Amino acid sequence: MLTRIIYCSTATEGVDIDEFRRILATAQKNNAAKDLTGMLMFNSRIFLQVLEGDRKEVNKLYNTLEQDPRHKDLMILKYERAESRNWAEWSMSFAPASEASRSIYLKYSVRSQFNPYVMEGDAVENMMQELTDTTVAMEDKKAKPQETPEKGALARLFSAS
Ligand SMILES: Cc1cc2nc3c(=O)[nH]c(=O)nc-3n(C[C@H](O)[C@H](O)[C@H](O)COP(=O)(O)O)c2cc1C
Repeated sequence: MLTRIIYCSTATEGVDIDEFRRILATAQKNNAAKDLTGMLMFNSRIFLQVLEGDRKEVNKLYNTLEQDPRHKDLMILKYERAESRNWAEWSMSFAPASEASRSIYLKYSVRSQFNPYVMEGDAVENMMQELTDTTVAMEDKKAKPQETPEKGALARLFSAS
């Protein structure tokens, strides 16, 4: 059964852009092998991730994620049976920093500070979808290792908030 989960979490001490790169590389490699797709966002403090695939694989990965000491306070924002994949082309994409991503975030949230913990599940999903349509689409696609973002780019993601 095709399943989609969206959760957010808080990075633990010492998790920086280099660590984020490693996480992204692991995700792309492993997810491609398990037919999992999705998107990961990081603003140097908070992670926001959508994962879609077979329910068993999604749940298994989520259990692994809960044990990962690089983040804490995982909160499921949405868990649903999906009719089709919204991130079919990406084993794990990321949203690059841009003014566009910031304005899209502001559109879906009542807060100016990036804080998915207080966002409603549908709003989070729609926001991630719109970010994908406008920004992530420019990145490399599935199975090809993605170019990792230059340091400044990710650090700037929502940092102006
Ligand atoms: C925020 C965050 C997102 C992650 N996303 C994924 C993912 O999509 N796929 C994955 O396999 N591992 C992901 N990981 C890493 C897993 O927790 C775990 O370290 C990894 O699956 C172990 O893979 P390995 O056995 O190949 O080293 C993520 C970790 C963090 C902190």
